[in-house]
Amino acid sequence: MLRRPRRNRKSEAVRSLIEETSLSVNDMIFPMFLVAGSNHKIEVASMPGIYRFSIDLMLREIEACMKLGIMAFDVFPAYPETLKDSIASESYNPETFYLKALREIKKNFPEICLMSDVAMDPYSSDGHDGLVKNGKILNDETLEILGRMSLAQADAGVDILGPSDMMDGRVGYIRGLLDENGYSETSIMSYTAKYASAFYGPFRDALDSAPKFGDKKTYQMNPANSKEALIEADLDMEEGADFLMVKPALAYLDIIKLLSENYPLPIAAYNVSGEYSMIKAAANRGWLDGDRAMHESLLSIRRAGAKVILTYFAKEFALLSK
Ligand code: PBG
Repeated sequence: MLRRPRRNRKSEAVRSLIEETSLSVNDMIFPMFLVAGSNHKIEVASMPGIYRFSIDLMLREIEACMKLGIMAFDVFPAYPETLKDSIASESYNPETFYLKALREIKKNFPEICLMSDVAMDPYSSDGHDGLVKNGKILNDETLEILGRMSLAQADAGVDILGPSDMMDGRVGYIRGLLDENGYSETSIMSYTAKYASAFYGPFRDALDSAPKFGDKKTYQMNPANSKEALIEADLDMEEGADFLMVKPALAYLDIIKLLSENYPLPIAAYNVSGEYSMIKAAANRGWLDGDRAMHESLLSIRRAGAKVILTYFAKEFALLSK
């Protein structure tokens, strides 16, 4: 036999020489959940090891993560029902706890990369990412609200805005507003190919943000389709996005590859809540080795072509690599 592929697997030293893909905390963004008040650290029932923090404890958690090498964080707010309304007005109230927290995080840790979420659902009494009228999600009317939210977040000092709403035209609309208002340095990581997925379930538990009626299929993409991802990516490129994101990650590795092969922008992938919970649930029952399953799934996302991974495993990965 002239070709014996096993020769390149014969020892750890040889295996690491030919290893093509690597994992590093430098490529990870740690998503975190924020609640109002102080001294709260509440575990999300469907996401063992992941908590909702009030700002005082979140600052400590961020500091602990920074010591482990994590430098990028994406903060999502959990709002009580009493602060929600149909137009998500709390999202651009300058005194709201989310915006105040973002400001405080940036003031304490100016060197980190802070990302925020742009969509109506955490603040919406309808639980949808866009404005609802007569049971329909209105596109262009939603843009105005997303625009206000984006300016308020940029003003709070956020480094990267993450429009996760899937309205048409929002990247260009937000980019225009940011530039007109002196925020030309604020980046946009567009949720480019965001699918209507069952894997967001635990996240909606964490934020109490599940839709009050219907589903998100008129704006999030159909899991059966890949060509649409190219249309979305074309638009986001033209409209000025700095990163293109695919979400979820594991069931959409083909989409990550498709975008990474066709677009020069850095590709991000969101290893979503359900993907985290599945591994945790199985590992907690002793059904699989959680650390290895985590490592292997993160590797597969990078191998598919993602430069950046948003993952609830970031801290655990960092702890294990110490
Ligand atoms: C909502 C939003 C969702 C996630 C991030 N932003 C859920 C949804 O679209 O319903 C999901 C993240 C996760 O599951 O980890 N704009």
